[in-house]
Amino acid sequence: MTRSLLINGIGELVTNAQGAPGAEPGGFASINDAALVIDGDRIAWTGPSSRAPAADDVLEAAGRAVLPGFVDSHAHLVFAGERSAEFAARMAGRGYAAGGIRSTVAATRAATDAELRAGLRRLAAEMVGQGTTTFECKSGYGLTVEDEARSVALAAEATDEVTYLGAHVVPTEFEDDAGAYVDLVCGPMLDACAPHARWVDVFCERGAFSVDEARAVLTAGRARGLVPRIHASQLGPGQGVQLGVELGAASADHCTFLTDADVDALAAAAPSPASTGTVATLLPGAEFGTRQPYPDARRLLDAGATVALATDCNPGSSYTSSMPFCIAVAVRDMHMTTSEAIWAATAGGASALRRGDVGYLAPGAKADLVMLDAPSHTYLAYRPGVPLVHAVWQAGMRRP
Ligand code: NIG
Ligand code: FE
Repeated sequence: MTRSLLINGIGELVTNAQGAPGAEPGGFASINDAALVIDGDRIAWTGPSSRAPAADDVLEAAGRAVLPGFVDSHAHLVFAGERSAEFAARMAGRGYAAGGIRSTVAATRAATDAELRAGLRRLAAEMVGQGTTTFECKSGYGLTVEDEARSVALAAEATDEVTYLGAHVVPTEFEDDAGAYVDLVCGPMLDACAPHARWVDVFCERGAFSVDEARAVLTAGRARGLVPRIHASQLGPGQGVQLGVELGAASADHCTFLTDADVDALAAAAPSPASTGTVATLLPGAEFGTRQPYPDARRLLDAGATVALATDCNPGSSYTSSMPFCIAVAVRDMHMTTSEAIWAATAGGASALRRGDVGYLAPGAKADLVMLDAPSHTYLAYRPGVPLVHAVWQAGMRRP
């Protein structure tokens, strides 16, 4: 039998609870001098400390802030090897190109299942240690039927949010026949991967897949019951964002080089309580790691788009597993307010994954939360690079 836990004396409790008093238009909401009760894997109560109910156990937060656990809706965690030399070369002036993915593909194909599993577990542990309680994980470094199938199967051991990304880049052996590779991705590879995945993704970019190829991949995935998401406009402008909106993608990710029409499309497609839509997921780690301009979060927010923040954790463009890092960059360099960035890293990620149980703290929500060694959410940007995570609960269980 589980025991209920009252966490009392919370300096600031970020709830993101819709309709809460003082909630901001973007959805951020918080309570000062707050308390919450966890019962089993769910939140049973939130409110002011002065009205806290009794529970089996009590934990004093001593003025610390408590937030919903971060929801990292974009990560590539099944891979082998590393590319630090490529990063160093970029910092010395070399550009980033999609083709670098192929060196990780070679290392991943050569790795055993046990090696890939160990790498995935290490990154998942890093994430939870930094307050991430839900993460998405893509395949995309196998690019054969067998290697993609094992990638999604391994990802499914670690998360429910598994994405089939057979269309990450055209592998070397298909260099002269991209069409045949797209046929493989839409046919036998999809058949092998769909049972383990919830999502289908494509890297729609110069050097990766054209908009027509991307349409073929997402449409085929959708016909197999997978929901589309898309890597779009990371390295230059393109038609990926509008393709994603047209196909009902849950999220268009990167959004670094947007046209006015892209911004309008994302604003019109913003999810609402009445309907699903397309979230703009921004991945500042990728711009940091490739020394590109950051996406214009303000332009998207001011237009009315729904914005999520995620890490894009991968060995090439963005080898960070840290949502606090992404929050700090988004506030400092993407001109998001601290509350917008926190919302985007919690409820925004939940929206990008179409999850109604995470990203907020109110009765009925999953008891996924992070307690900071700090009195408010602002400290995540105010004290960048400082390990502020004091404790994490996932489905009501305290994580080590
Ligand atoms: O999201 N854009 C495509 N995929 C990754 C990069 C992967 C890599 O460089 O290995 C990204 O940035
Ligand atoms: Fe990515």
